[in-house]
Parts: sequence; structure tokens; C-alpha cells
Amino acid sequence: MVTAVNIRPLADADRRIAAHIYAVGFLDEEVRPLMPRHVDRAEGIFAELIQPGPNSWVAASDAGEVVAVALCQEPPWPPPSVVSWSIYRRHLPVVATARARLVAQYLYRVRFTEDALYLQSLVVAPEWQRQGVGHALVRFVCREAQARGYARVTLNAVVGNEPAHRLYEHLGFSKVQTTPAGFYRHLVGWEGVDSMEKRLQSAQGGAPVGGEGSAAETEVALSTRVEP
Ligand SMILES: CC(C)(COP(=O)(O)OP(=O)(O)OC[C@H]1O[C@@H](n2cnc3c(N)ncnc32)[C@H](O)[C@@H]1OP(=O)(O)O)[C@@H](O)C(=O)NCCC(=O)NCCS
Repeated sequence: MVTAVNIRPLADADRRIAAHIYAVGFLDEEVRPLMPRHVDRAEGIFAELIQPGPNSWVAASDAGEVVAVALCQEPPWPPPSVVSWSIYRRHLPVVATARARLVAQYLYRVRFTEDALYLQSLVVAPEWQRQGVGHALVRFVCREAQARGYARVTLNAVVGNEPAHRLYEHLGFSKVQTTPAGFYRHLVGWEGVDSMEKRLQSAQGGAPVGGEGSAAETEVALSTRVEP
């Protein structure tokens, strides 16, 4: 039984496997409005969107297999690369590109305050889900945010993504607002997006965990499931 994962900064060599996890890991109804049904095309897009940096992490098994990815953004909020026309256009026809870009713009309408680390996306490979990996990665991101002096971690979760909502609520996140899809509902099929946040206790100092320039690998224990 797996009891821990190793969390480390995403390396260039991880981009292809990370892109694959994104392409197959998201719930169909969540990602299909944004991504093509062809897994290889979706992988091509994700491989360009996912970049190494101080806010990109992977969780790996003891055998070194990358099993999950978490990407964050720090303020001041840059125009997210996810809305890049040229990246989509390299992989998709014009109409699909326009559609994907509209959806991405909707997803990024919700912005957060400057005191927050924004958890942009989190995905666990399907065969590794429900083993505590998501919990471990989110706990890691919260610790990292705390070490960097942020007051909160924020994120957006599509209304109806129950596994994601349960995970975040278990870890102390609460909903701060819902942005209805409105016009975009016809494109995405979702009711809206819930913005959630977790307030952090102020950092006690100490070096950031796995931050910029750090090759640190942090072992995070997987919590034992407590049966009701
Ligand atoms: C949402 C997501 C990230 C959760 O990741 P995960 O690794 O499956 O999450 P965890 O295993 O930590 O927790 C999920 C459940 O498994 C349970 N679990 C944890 N360890 C377990 C174990 N050893 N055995 C069985 N179940 C376990 C948790 O208690 C939790 O149960 P609950 O849903 O009843 O509360 C994952 O489902 C995913 O990648 N989904 C697709 C992408 C997505 O929607 N991302 C979120 C976007 S906002």
C-alpha cells in the first residue's frame, strides 16, 4: 500500500507525463468544453501550457512515477498563458480555438486579492485517485503558501465537481462566491464556478519548501482513510 508521495518542482522532463495526466485526469464534463476530445491534441496543448517554475509541482510515487500535478499562480496576476490564442491554434481548427479561448477567459474572470497564492489547477492520474494524493498535494501547497508569507490559498472549482469540493472542504477551504456561467453556460454546460479560499496562519519564518531555485523533494504522508 502506498503511504507517501514525493512532491518536487515540476521539471522540463515531466511536461509530457504531466500533460498526459491533465488530458486523461479531468472529469469529462469539466475539461471537454475547453479541450479537444483527442487525447493527443489535448496533451499537445497541455504540454505547452504546463511550464516549470516556482509554482509548478508534481507528486511522484516511490518508484519515481509522476502521479499528480499542481500548478499555482502568484500575484500580481499575469495574463494566464491558458488563454493564449497561439497555443490553442497550433493544435486546433479556428472555431475550436475561439471556443476554447472564450471558455478559458470565463474561467479566469475571477481574480483574487494580492495576499493569496492561487491554486490554478490540481489533477491526479485516474488510477491514483482516492488514495490521498490530492490531500497531500493541497496540504503541500498550503504549507508552501504559508512559508512564502501569503495569508490565504484561493482556487476556483466548477460547480458540481463533487470530488474536488469534498477534498477542499475537508482541508478547510470554504466557498467565498459563486460566479454563474451566464451566457457561457451554452458553451461549457456548467452552472458556474465556485471560488474557495483557505485562510492560513501567519508564517513562523523558515525557508520556502520547494520554491524557486530549490531542488527540494518533500515527502508527504498520505492520510489514512477513516471509515465512517
Ligand atoms: C479532485 C481530485 C484532485 C482529488 O484527488 P484525490 O487524490 O482523488 O483525492 P484524495 O484521495 O486525497 O481524496 C479523495 C477521497 O479519497 C479518500 N481517500 C484518501 N485516502 C484514501 C485511501 N488510502 N483509500 C481510499 N480512499 C482514500 C479521501 O478520504 C477522499 O474521500 P471523500 O471523497 O469521501 O472525501 C481528483 O479527483 C482529480 O484529479 N480530479 C480530476 C481533476 C479535478 O477535478 N481537479 C480539481 C479541479 S478544481
